[in-house]
Amino acid sequence: MTTRWDEAPPEETPFHKPADERPEAGLAPLLGSALCRAATALHGDWRIIIDQSNLGETNPMMFGGVGRGEADGPDELLEYSFDGNDTLSVPGDWNTQRPELFWYRGVVWYRRDFDWRRPSGRRVYLYFGGANFRKSVYLNGRLLARHSGGFTPFNIDVTDYLVDGNNRLIVKVDSRSGADEIPTEFNDWLNYGGITREVLLIELPPTFVEHAAVQFKPGSRDTLRVRIRLAGVRAAGAPVRLEIPEAGVSQDLLTDADGLAQCELRAALEPWSPQAPKRYRVEIIAGEDRLADDIGFRSIQVAGDRILLNGKPVFLRGISMHEERLAAPGRAWGPEDAAAAVDAIRALGANFVRLAHYPHNEYMVRACDAAGILVWAELPVYHAVDFGSADALASAQRQYAEMIARDVNRAAVVFWSIANETEPGPARDAFLGALARQVRALDDSRLLTAALHGNRGMRRVGEHLAMQIVGMIPADAPPPPVEIDDPLAEQLDVVGYNQYFGWYTCGPIARELRKRGIPIREADVRERMLAAMPGFRYQAACGKPIVISEFGAEAVKGLRGEGTRVFSEDYQVRVYEKQLEMLSASPAIRGLSPWILKDFRTPYRLHTKWQQYWNRKGLLSEHGERKLAFDVLASHYRALRDGDD
Ligand code: GCU
Repeated sequence: MTTRWDEAPPEETPFHKPADERPEAGLAPLLGSALCRAATALHGDWRIIIDQSNLGETNPMMFGGVGRGEADGPDELLEYSFDGNDTLSVPGDWNTQRPELFWYRGVVWYRRDFDWRRPSGRRVYLYFGGANFRKSVYLNGRLLARHSGGFTPFNIDVTDYLVDGNNRLIVKVDSRSGADEIPTEFNDWLNYGGITREVLLIELPPTFVEHAAVQFKPGSRDTLRVRIRLAGVRAAGAPVRLEIPEAGVSQDLLTDADGLAQCELRAALEPWSPQAPKRYRVEIIAGEDRLADDIGFRSIQVAGDRILLNGKPVFLRGISMHEERLAAPGRAWGPEDAAAAVDAIRALGANFVRLAHYPHNEYMVRACDAAGILVWAELPVYHAVDFGSADALASAQRQYAEMIARDVNRAAVVFWSIANETEPGPARDAFLGALARQVRALDDSRLLTAALHGNRGMRRVGEHLAMQIVGMIPADAPPPPVEIDDPLAEQLDVVGYNQYFGWYTCGPIARELRKRGIPIREADVRERMLAAMPGFRYQAACGKPIVISEFGAEAVKGLRGEGTRVFSEDYQVRVYEKQLEMLSASPAIRGLSPWILKDFRTPYRLHTKWQQYWNRKGLLSEHGERKLAFDVLASHYRALRDGDD
């Protein structure tokens, strides 16, 4: 029986069995367009306690538990207090704020006091843009809610728990996920811990717009599909109006017994596109409440092996990125970080970004919406997920619902990706099949995709090259096609494919040949591979459009080298040149998102001379400096764009 994630009892520790405490309020349905609401941000320095042994949950030994309250006076023994000078800045990861927390995976307790006057008749929501990973939220000594998942928002109706005057908010954050979670603990990125995104207090009228989705009906460019949910005292059978003043749209609706109003209506709207990212001010009026958001409208579809944006074929000139600041360490979270990332994407001449491997912050998605950059959004169903776990599936489905609820009105978001590099198999196929069905049911106006593993296709071509090297087949024998044959492709609209020809493939081939007594240097295999790559051709078994969602090579900014010197900027350039030549020759490839915009932190990269716990596949260094390959990709995209626009 799946345990509801927000009701799971706190983790036991060898020291004690904490009291089984149920959250009092629980989570409220996610507020839509929360960033468009007037709000009080609880940002700045929060007092903290680092609780590595996870002792702080309610337990008699600790006279109540960290979330409950503090010593009343100098005579009361409580072996914890926030009154030291320990603070962390919120929003922000803890890993880059304190050197001793760089590798820390565990619990940190946060405390923030704020003054508030209880509003009469109005509601107050406490909204978190995201905090990694598991959270318990206490207000004035009461456990109100729990949430797990580091990259999606959640909110709590705190109205009835506020007091006039000083209020005390305590948040327990445990950055560890788990084997039956999404993601697991094993990721090729540093899974920063902490309250990493905005924390807002949002005051709402007695009846308010809980969520509104206004987008083109799938496949149409003149009909809107409208879905508005009201909440509060008079949500059922209530009048609500949709207005798009610039387009002369004004539509009255009535909610049903559940506070839901929906309709389809025709509207003449200029479509959103990278060339013209037109957004309209859309207003939803319900009683006292007025919610306004800037929304673009576009259609996105596939036709055979082409991707159509507003009915026209589009090529996705993209780049992948992690959610790290461009020129400073740590997790990105806000408008400035987003603006810097958009500038770099634009400087590449890109019209597309893969936000890997988890939902990035809302400011980034909105910045892409405003700038006309198409977005691939993804949930971290990454590598070795426990596909047989019902809890893992429940967590994936809940996080996906939160991501869709947050970004459903962002025209820029055209792809929902359900996985990255997962091995085919009955459990995986069933898991992703269930997730695919849920995502389509929640939003059928976008394309479903996933980044498939390229290993099998790469291995076949690698074997062909090895046989050519040992002379078993003629040097000019055409290579087999790179066949994308993962059965998951059947369930997708667009097939994402990760391949690293020129980087990961050469070492294993050289070692294998040497094992067979062929004295060959890895450098020779690299030269042969680079020479052969322009002849490789890609085909998706199911004839769907392909996006090469990853390719690349590592380079240390400033390291130069002849030939095939790995980690040199020169070799990264050579790999990019051959990759772009190769990929331009396969017509079914409709987009690229090379790995990756900037070097990023990871516990996977252990070359302490060249990597130092950075994945160095960035086209920008960890300080945001351009590497030589940046211009290789930028000039390729410029040529494509001139051909396109
Ligand atoms: C994989 C994976 C990335 C990883 C990259 C790499 O394809 O999806 O998360 O960082 O390869 O090896 O650099």
